[in-house]
Amino acid sequence: MAYQNIIAEHEDHLGFITIERPKKLNALNKATIEELSDAFKVLEADSDIRAIIITGSGEKAFVAGADISEFSDFDVQEGKELAEKGQTMLFDLVSELSTPVIAAVNGFALGGGLELAMACHIRVSSENARMGLPEVSLGLIPGYGGTQRLTQLVGKGKALEMITTGGMISAEDALKWGLVNYVVPQEQLMDFCEKLGDNIAKNSPNAIKAAIKAVNANVKESVDGFKVEIEEFGNCFGTKDFEEGTTAFLEKRKPNF
Ligand code: COA
Repeated sequence: MAYQNIIAEHEDHLGFITIERPKKLNALNKATIEELSDAFKVLEADSDIRAIIITGSGEKAFVAGADISEFSDFDVQEGKELAEKGQTMLFDLVSELSTPVIAAVNGFALGGGLELAMACHIRVSSENARMGLPEVSLGLIPGYGGTQRLTQLVGKGKALEMITTGGMISAEDALKWGLVNYVVPQEQLMDFCEKLGDNIAKNSPNAIKAAIKAVNANVKESVDGFKVEIEEFGNCFGTKDFEEGTTAFLEKRKPNF
């Protein structure tokens, strides 16, 4: 599989996807989202592959968010489309994939990066990783499922704390709060995830597919929440705060709200 922004490969029964934009801390631009969507579908279609591990290139970042430079001039309609297309094309696809996906969170997982990790079925973090949903600092809210999946994983109180402060939490706190399943030293991260993948590979693929469907059904009532998120995310694009937040980031200064 030849891509520009990611590497997708497989070895024995495991698929591997690495996001390869290290200079942009693996930020998710449109092309990367499209390539990820394609790679997940290709790996899922291969019945020899029993688990998929996704990680970011380099030692600093898993994914530092959606690529802010791509949407800083969007209007309300474009904002809604950005969230809706992204959710359908990648985040819901991953969450509903019949092959289990393990996020190897090797560094910063912010905004869309944490949303991608949360869409995965299992999360393992390295000790250096930092996680957060900083969208409110840009005059936005999370738009790739973050308001729903963070609440499902850590509960409403902690989710609202993370979303309203926009702050980052340590891997240790993420483990304490149930946001990640394990924290391991960075050099052991991939081996650890591969062992989890090996354990999954011993089991019935049909049963695993059914289990993912059944577990996901448990949280289906939040489906309207995803729609509200798309609406509210899009509306942010009509505000002065959004203009100021994204401009300040691109000009490398603090926003003045
Ligand atoms: N979108 C676009 N570019 C991004 C990005 C993003 N989400 N995150 C990082 N980058 C780019 C930076 O603009 C910089 O590019 P440049 O070298 O061309 O100027 C490069 O990646 C390195 O980032 P930098 O900010 O210099 O690294 P740092 O170590 O000082 O800070 C972070 C790291 C993660 C704290 C910081 O990059 C950050 O806050 N990123 C944005 C996080 C965010 O708000 N994500 C949510 C988006 S919805």
